[in-house]
Amino acid sequence: MKPVQWGVLSTAKIGLQKVIPAMQKADSCRIAAIASRSVSTAQAAADALSISKAYGSYEDLLADPEIEAVYNPLPNHLHVPLSIAAIEAGKHVLCEKPIAINASEAAKLIGARDKAGVLVQEAFMVRFHPQWLRARELVRSGKIGHLRSIHGLFSYNNRDPRNIRNQAEIGGGGLYDIGCYPITGARFLFEQEPTRVVGLIERDPAWGIDRLTSAMLDFPGGHATFSCATQITPYQRMQIFGTAGRIEIEIPFNAPPDRPCRIFLDDGSQLGNAGVRVEEFAVSDQYTIQGDVFSRAIRLGESLEFPLENAVQGMRIIDAVFRSAETGQWEAP
Ligand SMILES: NC(=O)c1ccc[n+]([C@@H]2O[C@H](COP(=O)([O-])OP(=O)(O)OC[C@H]3O[C@@H](n4cnc5c(N)ncnc54)[C@H](OP(=O)(O)O)[C@@H]3O)[C@@H](O)[C@H]2O)c1
Repeated sequence: MKPVQWGVLSTAKIGLQKVIPAMQKADSCRIAAIASRSVSTAQAAADALSISKAYGSYEDLLADPEIEAVYNPLPNHLHVPLSIAAIEAGKHVLCEKPIAINASEAAKLIGARDKAGVLVQEAFMVRFHPQWLRARELVRSGKIGHLRSIHGLFSYNNRDPRNIRNQAEIGGGGLYDIGCYPITGARFLFEQEPTRVVGLIERDPAWGIDRLTSAMLDFPGGHATFSCATQITPYQRMQIFGTAGRIEIEIPFNAPPDRPCRIFLDDGSQLGNAGVRVEEFAVSDQYTIQGDVFSRAIRLGESLEFPLENAVQGMRIIDAVFRSAETGQWEAP
């Protein structure tokens, strides 16, 4: 298969440090160009990562006819505007999470995608990691009985006022940045959508971003709860409970690409960890797999398991958590 020619919008840390090097490991992907608001920044990134073309504006990259697909890791408020610009330039788009600031903004992507006839996907890389696929397989097989309850936690401690996560006006805050993961994980495992949610939010008094957010999601099959926080000790974990067992994903979101990941399977026969069986996964990079799957969909017409409509539904859930935190009521996504 001829590799897809990719262009990257910005010198975002996630791109430079994780996604570009990972995609460069896939035969199906060639990172052909990178753009920045400053040509010297773009050139430095291109030099460091052996990318042949550097552009001093996002628009210049989008005008390059060689580029077939665009990876968009811009701050959240630019996800939809620049993804639409890319789509209108005829490019396929892999856009970072969350795909938009709200569901109505996200929905604009659907019309643009359909008009241009390109593929657009939200970059929830965790859904490609073997540990999540295995957790879903265990749930589907009935290994933990009926899935009833999922608990997620994702946190870090970031007090840098210049970080995009701490700027409310460009889509900062914990729910957009990390709360979206336990929501995605719960939808992935229940294979259902929540019918109502309730949320609790504490905002940073100076920056206005949500720094501590908790929510309950009511799925037809059971409940999911999560907390996400941007100013507590770093941690991440997913606990998945069924009528006959429990699955725990040790590092569910930032799965390390250089050492094996683990999930724990507990039959509940003994409190503590005595009844736990550990499953270890061969080293893999979820960003490589994500780039490969998307490139193969472009080149070979393989279908995407999670189309844009799934991302719009995810935004409806985020919207409902924000609404519920305001109203103090259950809200329907
Ligand atoms: N999937 C994951 O694992 C993962 C992990 C981390 C982050 N993310 C997502 O990736 C995106 C980027 O996160 P990041 O931490 O990598 O961001 P970052 O390092 O702050 O980079 C954002 C880039 O956007 C460009 N930009 C354009 N307008 C900007 C503005 N007004 N303020 C700041 N930057 C602006 C800048 O690039 P130029 O100067 O080159 O134009 C900047 O380097 C976010 O949507 C985040 O949710 C995903």
